[in-house]
Amino acid sequence: MPRFLMASPDFYGIEYEINPWMDRRRNAISELACSQWTGLVKTLLSLPDMDIELLKPQPGLPDMAFTANAGLVIDRRFISSRFRHRERQGESPHYEKWFANRGYDIIRLPEDVFFEGEGDAILAGDTWFEGYYYRSDARAHEALSEILNAEVLPLRLVDPLFYHLDTCFRPLGSDSAIIYPGAFDEYALRVLRSRFQKRIEVTEEEAKRFCCNAIVVGDTVVTTTGCHGMSAALRVDGYDVRALDLSEFIKAGGAAKCLVLSM
Ligand code: ARG
Repeated sequence: MPRFLMASPDFYGIEYEINPWMDRRRNAISELACSQWTGLVKTLLSLPDMDIELLKPQPGLPDMAFTANAGLVIDRRFISSRFRHRERQGESPHYEKWFANRGYDIIRLPEDVFFEGEGDAILAGDTWFEGYYYRSDARAHEALSEILNAEVLPLRLVDPLFYHLDTCFRPLGSDSAIIYPGAFDEYALRVLRSRFQKRIEVTEEEAKRFCCNAIVVGDTVVTTTGCHGMSAALRVDGYDVRALDLSEFIKAGGAAKCLVLSM
């Protein structure tokens, strides 16, 4: 059963700049952000058996809408993120409290290891892929493989516009994935191409529209508008593509997938 944690964008805005998308002079339009977020919730709730849990957003923490970065949820364990930027570090106690109150075990990585949750750690088949460099540390993959007792493959990100793994990679199954090749170093790209025989490799233009930042639920792919090439390729493979305008979240460097945490 698909289950996601989300936080409404009540206090969302561009109040600092911690990635190249963010520009304080180009703030998000609050009402539009709220209606885009509500549109995403409605789209998700229209899918069979969808369960959405809500976390109360907090004033002064404008990026809390991006719950994907809270951590990782594995069974009844919550592996809490260690945010690289001070601006987001205040979010962690709220996420930890939410999960602790519901009986989850709270697990923390070593103090000196940065890790930004589902933004940088993505499961495909039995293997975890960990994006590192801009946000999460390469070393996080060691801690994660111990905690998860699974294979974790580190992937070096090389383009600051694609600073989280979920901005340039979305598995569709154990051997198929959406990838933006320009975001990875040569070795990472080789790993991805050998692991995923069936690939949709998107153009830079579509990647910049956050096409890879898609939510996949069964045969449905929820992504942003303007992903024509990717959507056409997905439809050929039998996927139902739902495109939503998420312009206000792209201003902060996020889109559909960043707004949900899988549970
Ligand atoms: N402004 C947020 C940040 O820079 C955006 C986070 C996007 N989240 C994601 N999972 N890619 O941290």
